[in-house]
Amino acid sequence: SRTWTKVEDLSKELSEQKVLVRARIHTTRGKGKSAFLVLRQRTATVQAILFADDQTVSKGMVKYATQIPKESIVDLEGVVKVPENLIEGCSQKDVELKVTAIRAVSRAAALPFELVDASRSEEEVKAAAEKGEILPTVGQDLRLDNRFLDLRTPANQAIFRVQSAVCQLFKDTLLAEGFQEIHTPKLIAGASEGGAAVFRLDYMGTPACLAQSPQLYKQMAICADMDRVFEVGPVFRAEFSYTHRHLCEFMGLDLEMAINEHYYEVLDVIEKLFGAIFDGLSTKYAKELAVIAEQYPFDVPTFKPLRLTFPEGIALLQQGGFPDVDPFGDLNTELERTLGRIVKEKYGTDFFILHRYPSAVRPFYTMPCADDPAYSNSYDVFIRGEEIISGAQRVHDPDLLVERATACGIPLETIQSYIDSFKLGAPPHGGAGVGLERVVMLYCGLNNIRKTSMFPRDPKRLTP
Ligand code: 4AD
Repeated sequence: SRTWTKVEDLSKELSEQKVLVRARIHTTRGKGKSAFLVLRQRTATVQAILFADDQTVSKGMVKYATQIPKESIVDLEGVVKVPENLIEGCSQKDVELKVTAIRAVSRAAALPFELVDASRSEEEVKAAAEKGEILPTVGQDLRLDNRFLDLRTPANQAIFRVQSAVCQLFKDTLLAEGFQEIHTPKLIAGASEGGAAVFRLDYMGTPACLAQSPQLYKQMAICADMDRVFEVGPVFRAEFSYTHRHLCEFMGLDLEMAINEHYYEVLDVIEKLFGAIFDGLSTKYAKELAVIAEQYPFDVPTFKPLRLTFPEGIALLQQGGFPDVDPFGDLNTELERTLGRIVKEKYGTDFFILHRYPSAVRPFYTMPCADDPAYSNSYDVFIRGEEIISGAQRVHDPDLLVERATACGIPLETIQSYIDSFKLGAPPHGGAGVGLERVVMLYCGLNNIRKTSMFPRDPKRLTP
């Protein structure tokens, strides 16, 4: 088959060479005997020129080219030329294509919105408004209704490459730490994270639900002597919270491990993991981060391993203007963000771990602290003052599990096989659950989790 050249590879080195390219029509402009097209492939753009010379290119061909609608996919044959002046507005500035043949492969119908409008930064809109010019922008619902088109913007292309990188770094780092990947069922008999927020369904006549997390199964893997496991998979929550950070389906990055002496062993892994993720993104994905920042300006977050106990966090909040904060209650979004700001100022990091939470605000399977059962061997992890991880050492004594589940109102028959798996000897263990979309959202300083979910599911959205 013929050799196809990628738009991002078009450069001066190919000067005067014939190339074959498949790309989208980004923009078109006709002028007399000439047509100027901008071709786009993912985030790369290049100018292509047709000139009717009545030899290779006819007037009819120029007309045909100018009439191909924007976003259509075309095949082009052409010669790479080095123009006198740099071509501003294209990623491939120092070359252009002199087209010898063009064919529409797939024509686009009328667009619901212009990609340039969907790619515009708020800064650009504000700056134009100050000069009295109103630039069109595209609202979130219209974007999401036409998500496959919205995903073509440079910022979105970069966001999902960053998302892919976070998964890869998660896997690579944990594999290097002796973890193995597992896959647990998503159709399960009972709730794993409390009864309220589950999608219930009928499983061949038996009530069932979609897994709220791999929690119970990753623990059973530990009981099966797998020692250190992780999973990347969907998590379902029937939460009626229409917020900037809740989805009804998200990607869970879960890990679980046997521990010898202390839940700090899990915190060591979490710090190593996020050190690697922050480092990998800022070094290997600087280009993608810059593309995202062009549309959604942000500073790359700082990482330092920092652990604060929950009571230390409460003390910081009390000193920081919240004297009435409940020392045994959960932190709401406002308090978490405030703590994030205080920590950033005091310790210079956007990442931190808060551990030793009050037992009352943690799930039934959380291990109470040996020295004070009012607290638990549990932790949340934050980026920019918002939760990305929650985790804990788990109760591995079946009698204590029954007691805790009963106290939390969980019907024992739905978790009987889980409880049973601790009856034949279970090592002390702990783990954590990471929300992938939250990590990308908070790392990139984005304001809404729908921006980091390819096809978000929220209480009002099930399509596309
Ligand atoms: O805090 P969660 O519910 O904890 C668990 O699922 C435990 N099984 C984890 C463990 O190992 N003990 O969820 C874990 C993470 C949260 O920190 C958050 O990042 C993300 O999953 N998350 C959500 N992301 C998007 N939408 C939602 N509705 C989310 N709920 C939790």
